[in-house]
This record gives sequence, C-alpha cells and structure tokens, in this order.
Amino acid sequence: MTPRISICLLFATLTLTGCGGGGGGSDPATRLAPSGTVVDLGRSLFFDTALSEPAGQACASCHDPAAGFADPDVDSSHPVSAGAVSGRFGNRNAPTASYAALTPDFAYDAAATNKYSGGQFLDGRASDLTEQAKGPLLNPLEMANADKAAVVAKVRSASYATLFEEIYGAGALNDVNSAFDRIAAAIAAFERSEAFSPFSSKFDYVLAGQASFSAAEQRGFDLFKGRGMCTECHKLEPAARPLFTDFTYRNIGVPPNPDNPVYASDPGFVDLGLGFNPALSSSAALENGKFRVPTLRNSALTAPYMHNGVLQTLEQVVNFYNTRDTRRCLDVGGTPLVDCWPAPEVDNANVNTSQVGDLLLSAADEADIVAFLRTLSDGYSP
Ligand code: HEC
Ligand code: HEC
Repeated sequence: MTPRISICLLFATLTLTGCGGGGGGSDPATRLAPSGTVVDLGRSLFFDTALSEPAGQACASCHDPAAGFADPDVDSSHPVSAGAVSGRFGNRNAPTASYAALTPDFAYDAAATNKYSGGQFLDGRASDLTEQAKGPLLNPLEMANADKAAVVAKVRSASYATLFEEIYGAGALNDVNSAFDRIAAAIAAFERSEAFSPFSSKFDYVLAGQASFSAAEQRGFDLFKGRGMCTECHKLEPAARPLFTDFTYRNIGVPPNPDNPVYASDPGFVDLGLGFNPALSSSAALENGKFRVPTLRNSALTAPYMHNGVLQTLEQVVNFYNTRDTRRCLDVGGTPLVDCWPAPEVDNANVNTSQVGDLLLSAADEADIVAFLRTLSDGYSP
C-alpha cells in the first residue's frame, strides 16, 4: 500500500484520532485548504526520508512518534543526533516535537524576572513552527540540503507533489521561495495536529477522574509540587491540560557532556543556550547557559536528557536536581572524585540555586518522583 497508509498505522498506536485527514480544522495553518489536506501533506513531508542529502533522513528520523517524538538512535556514546551526511553530528540532544505546537512565539518582557520566553529550538531562535521547520532541511549537520531549490526539487519528484498542487494550485512548486515557505507551513500544520498533542497520558486520565495514581505516583506528584519544587518551572499550566513548562529560560547548571562529538572539532565549545539566540541584545551574557524549560510530557520515552544528553535516565535527572550542590566535584589536587557532579557548562551567576541543587530528598522520594514522571507518556489505556 502507499506510504501514507503505513504512517497512519504508526499513528494509530499513538492516538485513535490523529490520522485519516482530520485534525486542526480551526487552526490558522489549515485555513488555506479544506480540512485536513494540509495536515496530510505535512505528514507526508515529515516522514519522507528522501528529503535529505543524501537521502535517508526525515524529520521523523530524529522525532520518531514511537520514541516520544525524539531521536531513538542516541545513546551514551552518541548523545546527539547523527546527520544525513555520515560522520556529521549536531551538538544538541533532539527534544521531543510533541506539544511543540503549544509553545508560544518567542517573546521579551522587560518587566519579568526571566525576560525571554517561548520560541522553537532550545534557545528560541525560531519564532514559530514554520520558521523552525526550515532549519533542519538546510542544516548541514541535519538534512543537509544545499539550498531551498534542492528541497523544492525533491518535493517536485515526490508522490505527494500532486497533493501540493491540489492545495496550492498548479505550478505552485515552480517558485522556489514560496514553495519552500509552503513546505515548512505544511509540516507545521501537521505538527499542530492532534497526533503531536494527544493529551492521552495516565496523568490526563487521572486529571479527568478516569484513572487513579498508584501510591508511589501520588507521592511523586506531591513531591513534584512540594519539596521537589519542580513546578517552579515545570508549571501545571494551563490547569485543564498542563504542559509542565512556563516557557521561560533558566540555567540549571547542567554539566558539559564529554561524549558530545562537538568537542572533536571544537574542543573549547560551550553551549550558551539562549545566549546564542541572534535576537538578543548585547546584554546577552546574562542569558548565557539558559535553556527553555521543556515540557515533561513523554520524557520517559526521550532519553538521554538535557540539551547535551549528559543524563541517561530519569533517575539521574531527579538525583541531579536533588544533589547537584551537595555532591559537586571539587578540585582536590588531582584526585578524581567518583559519583559527583562536575561544574555547570556555563558556571554563571545565573545558575539557579534557590530551587535546584540541594532538595534533601531521600532515595525513596527520588524514586517516587520518577514514578510520577512515567505517568506523563501518551498512549495510556485505562
Ligand atoms: C538530525 C536530527 C534532526 C532532524 C533530521 C530534525 N530534527 Fe528537529 N531537532 C533536532 C535537534 C537536535 C533539535 C534541537 C536543536 C536546537 O535547539 O538547536 C531539534 C528541534 C526541533 C524542534 C523544536 C522543539 C522545541 O521544543 O523547541 C522542532 C519542532 C523540530 N525539531 C521539528 C523538526 C522538523 C519539522 C524536522 C524536519 C523538517 C526536523 N525537526 C528534523 C534534531 C533533528
Ligand atoms: C529553575 C527551573 C527548573 C526547576 C525548578 C526544575 N526544572 Fe527540570 N528543567 C529545567 C530546564 C531549563 C531544563 C532544560 C535544561 C537543559 O536542556 O539543559 C529542564 C529539564 C528537565 C528534564 C529533561 C527533559 C528532557 O527531555 O531532556 C526533566 C526530566 C526535568 N527537567 C524534570 C524536573 C524535575 C523532576 C524537577 C523537580 C525535581 C525539575 N525538573 C525542576 C528547569 C527546571
């Protein structure tokens, strides 16, 4: 059968309603066309492994629905995604693309403590999903197309080129700039469809009164909101359907990852996070080392963790929050300490020490928080 059918089967495991042409009728991105057809086009584009140079890598290769819309092919020796060109790697751990549609556009609020919020990528450098989608298609470390024309040429010879012309008109693939913009917009429309934001986790069923937490999960949820202080950043907002982020940027003192392949070509590399965002003014130094607070939905499926993939498991993540400052590796005259946390990648005054680093949680408390985090994976059936 056609590729589109197998993709629908893939999605059927995740959500019963994400496939078959529906979805997002009231969404601005789909107003251009009769309900669902832009979403269908976006789905074909998102899964098309012919869209890279050389062929072989789709958006879905690094944002696989079966892996919480993150990269299934990363591990401790290889914490960031491989590019389409063999031997090339990006320098960040692929985040989930689920719920990304609900991230607000990048914004600045001079009156706020954390002045920047929202935007796509971990540093917010793409304002919205359409701008974001253009990035990987042309990024030499990802899908590596030489230019927009190369992407449009690939779409012109794809089976869904006819669908593209049905939606945007005959000849719509002739003008490279407008065609490239529409390719990105169609991908974004698909990312706004319900398949990406199904709100079908155990947590959602508990919230709706249709399931209940185990004792450990309930204790973990209480700690998450209480002594763990997780909700200071991973907020339970909006209340009806919490996204587990306030979309601000914070430096939580994540150590560098020595296994990041970036150091092979650039030994002095430091990921400045928000500090790399070209929209920032000269006061950017204050923002160095901050990353956007991520959603925690599907995080049980998206290991490794943090912008550089330095933490392998949710257990390690919670232990890091609990003990970052109490088990810090200090310079002890060359004697290597074991089982301790190295200094932050960006050891700025902006490292959060009031909510992170010394939480006085027991091992049982840590395990309970992890049990709670595991209730946030989509596809639960009560
Ligand atoms: C080689 C792996 C790879 C490929 C291919 C890839 N991505 Fe990503 N994606 C990443 C990484 C890594 C990041 C984070 C990069 C950063 O912050 O600089 C990311 C970030 C994102 C984000 C932002 C999520 C957030 O919370 O900010 C979205 C959305 C996304 N990708 C969608 C796509 C789409 C759409 C495509 C195809 C056009 C695609 N990706 C192709 C690895 C990949
Ligand atoms: C001060 C704000 C703040 C607090 C408090 C906080 N987090 Fe985070 N969290 C972040 C930021 C920012 C990141 C991303 C850091 C990075 O990428 O380097 C993050 C990342 C994570 C991740 C990794 C997500 C991924 O996909 O890589 C998990 C899991 C997580 N936090 C869970 C928790 C838990 C559990 C708590 C409470 C014990 C907590 N956080 C408290 C800001 C916070």
